[in-house]
Parts: sequence; structure tokens; C-alpha cells
Amino acid sequence: MNSFSNEEFDFTFLDEGFTAKDILDQKINEVSSSDDKDAFYVADLGDVLKKHFRWYKALPRVTPFYAVKCNDSKAIVKTLAALGAGFDCASKTEIQLVQNIGVPPERIIYANPCKQISQIKHAANNGVQMMTFDSEVELMKVARAHPKAKLVLRIATDDSKAVCRLSVKFGATLKTSRLLLERAKELDLDIIGVSFHVGSGCTDPETFVQAISDARCVFDMGTELGFSMHLLDIGGGFPGSEDVKLKFEEITNVINPALDKYFPCDSGIRIIAEPGRYYVASAFTLAVNIIAKKVVLKEQSGSDDEDDINGKTLMYYVNDGVYGSFNCILYDHAHVKPVLQKRPKPDEGCYSCSIWGPTCDGLDRIVERFDMPELQVGDWMLFENMGAYTVAAASTFNGFQRPAIHYVMSRPAWQLMQQIKEQGFLAEEEEQDVSTLPLSCAWESGIEHHPATCASTSINV
Ligand SMILES: Cc1ncc(COP(=O)(O)O)c(C=O)c1O
Repeated sequence: MNSFSNEEFDFTFLDEGFTAKDILDQKINEVSSSDDKDAFYVADLGDVLKKHFRWYKALPRVTPFYAVKCNDSKAIVKTLAALGAGFDCASKTEIQLVQNIGVPPERIIYANPCKQISQIKHAANNGVQMMTFDSEVELMKVARAHPKAKLVLRIATDDSKAVCRLSVKFGATLKTSRLLLERAKELDLDIIGVSFHVGSGCTDPETFVQAISDARCVFDMGTELGFSMHLLDIGGGFPGSEDVKLKFEEITNVINPALDKYFPCDSGIRIIAEPGRYYVASAFTLAVNIIAKKVVLKEQSGSDDEDDINGKTLMYYVNDGVYGSFNCILYDHAHVKPVLQKRPKPDEGCYSCSIWGPTCDGLDRIVERFDMPELQVGDWMLFENMGAYTVAAASTFNGFQRPAIHYVMSRPAWQLMQQIKEQGFLAEEEEQDVSTLPLSCAWESGIEHHPATCASTSINV
């Protein structure tokens, strides 16, 4: 049973047959005659629920501890808390965020191997015991600030085939692992297991197999030294959208046999993971508005590029950029592409276009080149799969505010979530085909409602 006593967040139900995209269109229509066309998100919480079912279907032995850093929106954290997920927190503030909504400390892992002493003490004072480390200095800090901690040794992986590498910064080698285990013994600390992260955008699932096998070696070393090793943490890096080289199930199909080989069910080892992007990427769609435009004629640009179709290129300036939501381009190596909100006419010509953010910085470019029909100031572009490492790291550089987020969820998804919250994850729910769930919803309070379709509500998850 998961019960939480916390503040509320708002979303609006949508009647059957409506999708999150319908809401987006509806919201755009509402502001069509005004000049007030700020960028905004529609986030489908039902999509998060759907991911949760997909997770347990693909990785039945692995409990997800959501990586809060990926998207720390309260609605996301509360939804996952209601579903019974654990949380990977990187800092005191993330621990506070999760604990403030009623998540018990046992469902938190402080998964940052290099922590400030005051923040280790905060974890100790608030009952958070599981934490990762990868160095001797960290062990000595923990011995002083949190001697009862349940430590998880983070090992390095071969993340050379990942888009975002993490083992350049974190993770002990196997040789160092032995020394660290010995040092922990001397310091009378408790090591309970091993963690790793294969990097994000991993293109080779065998990296997981190697990391799981390395973790086994470290488990054996720990057991030999007298530790009760019982936790394996397989980290994050699971894709959150379908536009990737390696699909989620292609990875999990490789992970499961490796878990069964190195950590068989009867070993009694608890297995957790730290998925971030997996849960949130596809739930968020961003709508941006064109605020300015330049037409560059071929003779002006001096370009010989045969691809400068129709004699001109177009530059669009939109009201969110790399200092805002599109920081994912810089920090997360994301490649984004726009979807046109207005369907183009079949005979409409295309132009080579670039898309820029609203700030005065030349770095603020979202798309270098994309071929599309000509658009006008006031038109909208949509960007899908924008839930991961977007809102979490967005700044207000140049005074541009972060887009509002409008949360939506269908009634069946909501009912299912309530059922899980009250009764836990039930076998028949796991068997239910969630792909048939109408996952569309309505929008947050503060926006006018379409009386025929939406009923706004404030719900305490
Ligand atoms: C320790 C740790 N765990 C989990 C994650 C989440 O990774 P992803 O969003 O790729 O699943 C990260 C991301 O940087 C991380 O550093």
C-alpha cells in the first residue's frame, strides 16, 4: 500500500476518445486570436503509467528507482511514488523533494558517489541509508558522517559505445574495488552491494552483460571479506522513446539472461535500477511558437548548396531554446526535430530551414537544417519526446521563462493508478494490455476548459 499525505497537483481528465495531442491542439486554438502565445508542454501522466507496466513486463526481477535528476517535476515524482517506484536521488534537495511527498527512506538510494559531507549528514538524519561510493575518501567521509550507511560500490563500465558517458567520472575498477572493500572493512562500514551505469544512449547491450558479470566478481570479493552482499543496482540508460538505435526490449532481452546467469532468482539478491529518461521522455510534448523569421535569398547567402531548394532558406526564431528546454541538445546530446502543428497542403513546396531559440546568443540554435513548408510568425511547431533532461536543467537566461506544463491523464489510467496505490501491483493488472489504455487527458487548471471534453481536477496522488 502506498499512501501519501502531500500537496496536490492539478490535471484534467479527458473524456474517452481524446488524446494528449487533441489537448495540445485545443490549447493552441484557444490562443489563436491573441498575441499571448507562450511555449508550453502537455505531459501525459498516463504515458508514465504505461511505461511502468512495460518495465515490469520486460524486467520482472528489477525494481525501478526513478532517477529524479532526469525530470524533477512534482507531478512526475508523485505519480511514480503512487505507483510504488523507488527513487535515485543525487542531492539533499532531491531527497527532500521525494521525502516531502511521503516516500519512506527505504525507497530512496542516494546514488551520487561523490557527496558533500553536510548532505551525507542530511541523509543520515533523515533515515536514508543506501548510498553509492567509488573512492576511499568517500568511505572516510561516510565513516564520519553516516557510519550506519548501507553502502553500494559503484563500478566502472565500458561505456565507450554510449552517447552520454559516465564512467569517465564515476566507478571503480575491479582492482580498486577489492582495495575499497578491504578499506571499508577496516572502517567497520557495511557494504551491501554493487551498482553501475552503462552510460545513456548505449548502443551495445553487451555492455550490460559485462557490467553484470563484473558486479558478480565484486559480490564474490565482498562475500569473501565477510560482507552480506544482497543488492545489485543496474543503473539507468534505458531509452524513453522509440526513435533510438537500440529499443528498450532489445536491451532487456539481453539483461534478463545475464541476471539469471550471474544472480539467479534463488540467490535472494535484490535487483534495482535507476531509470530516468525511460519513464519521462515520451510523456512530454513541447509546443513552441514562431516569434520571428528571416528569409535568406540564395544570392544573399552566396551558397552553392544544391539543397537550397526553391532559391531561399528560412530562419525561424521560436520562444524556447537551448538555454531553456532545449538544453538537452547541449547537455544530453539530443537531436530534436519539429513536427508541424498545421498539416501542410499536399502541393506545398519545402525550404531548407534552421530553427533558433529566443536569446541573443548565437549558440542558441535548436535545429541546423530541416526541410519543411514555409511557416509564418505566430505558427506553432511541436517537439515530441521532450520529458528527459529538459525542464530539469532549463534556465531563465535573458529573462525567458520556462514553459508551463499542463498535465493530463485519462480516467482509466487514473483509476488503474489508484488501484495500484491502494493494493500494490497486482498480477491481473500486469497482464492487462495497457497499450489499449486511452492515455489522453485534459489540461491543468488555470486554462479555460472545453465543456464537452474536459473536467479539471486537483488530485492528491
Ligand atoms: C547515477 C545515475 N543513475 C541514473 C541516471 C539516469 O540515467 P538515464 O536517464 O539515462 O536512465 C543517471 C544519469 O545521469 C545517473 O547519473
